[in-house]
Amino acid sequence: MGNLRLEPHSGAGVEVLGIDLKNLTDNEFQAIQQAYADYGLVFFRDQSLSEQQHIELAERFGSININRFFAANESFPQIAMVTKEANQEVNIGGGWHTDHSYDHEPAMGSILVARDLPDSGGDTWFVSMYNALDDLSEGLRETLHSMKALHSARHVFGSGNGYEAATGGRIGNNDKADVLEDPIHPVIITHPLSGKDALYVNPGFTRHFLGWSIEESEPLLNMLYEKAANPERICKFSWKPGSIAFWDNRATWHFAQNDYHGQRREMHRITLDGCALKAA
Ligand code: SIN
Repeated sequence: MGNLRLEPHSGAGVEVLGIDLKNLTDNEFQAIQQAYADYGLVFFRDQSLSEQQHIELAERFGSININRFFAANESFPQIAMVTKEANQEVNIGGGWHTDHSYDHEPAMGSILVARDLPDSGGDTWFVSMYNALDDLSEGLRETLHSMKALHSARHVFGSGNGYEAATGGRIGNNDKADVLEDPIHPVIITHPLSGKDALYVNPGFTRHFLGWSIEESEPLLNMLYEKAANPERICKFSWKPGSIAFWDNRATWHFAQNDYHGQRREMHRITLDGCALKAA
């Protein structure tokens, strides 16, 4: 396997060192797949992938899910543009969330490549949903095991939310969001790759527990969110030219920091298809 090494990050994730993503051997590819299943979050540094190579890498891991709500790269529609212009206030992904929990078959994960970075700031924070579950008492886990929750994107991408206008049309597509059929997912899932149990609610898209009102759900959801985003469990990833993050949406949350006003940040995201989630 040549020089491939794994260096776990504190909080969540692992850095894969000693490889060139343009020229992965089958053994290296399998080692990355295993690290992705084990940690749900892998980072790479000093890579130089063209857009086409980004697509080819993604296709080795799964089929590409073309995002309905993000502006696409003009030449490569498989790539969603995660851009904040220097004159833009609101960023994309500026709160804890996991992508696509509003789908019946939530996307497996995303491969995010840094293309244009601010001088400082613009980190992405991650937390592990395995840790989030482990940190709950046995009694609470037992209760959550039998619960389900409704997820939606209508309040985020649908009409009247202002996100589309605030991001200069870089995210939105109100018409498609307004007609989404909201899925119900188990609150604790058995992760399809790792076989481990993970908490599966998130502040971005979970609306309420099944059979509970939004108002009734809020206190328990907020308590779960506070525990999941425990500052001691956060992995703060600082981007550099050539950095890449590949996260699993069923095992992590992420949060793009918006602390670089007046500067431009451009990231390229490819999202991979997932599957229906099973209760633990
Ligand atoms: C996202 O939420 O996908 C964006 C993450 C980032 O820009 O760091």
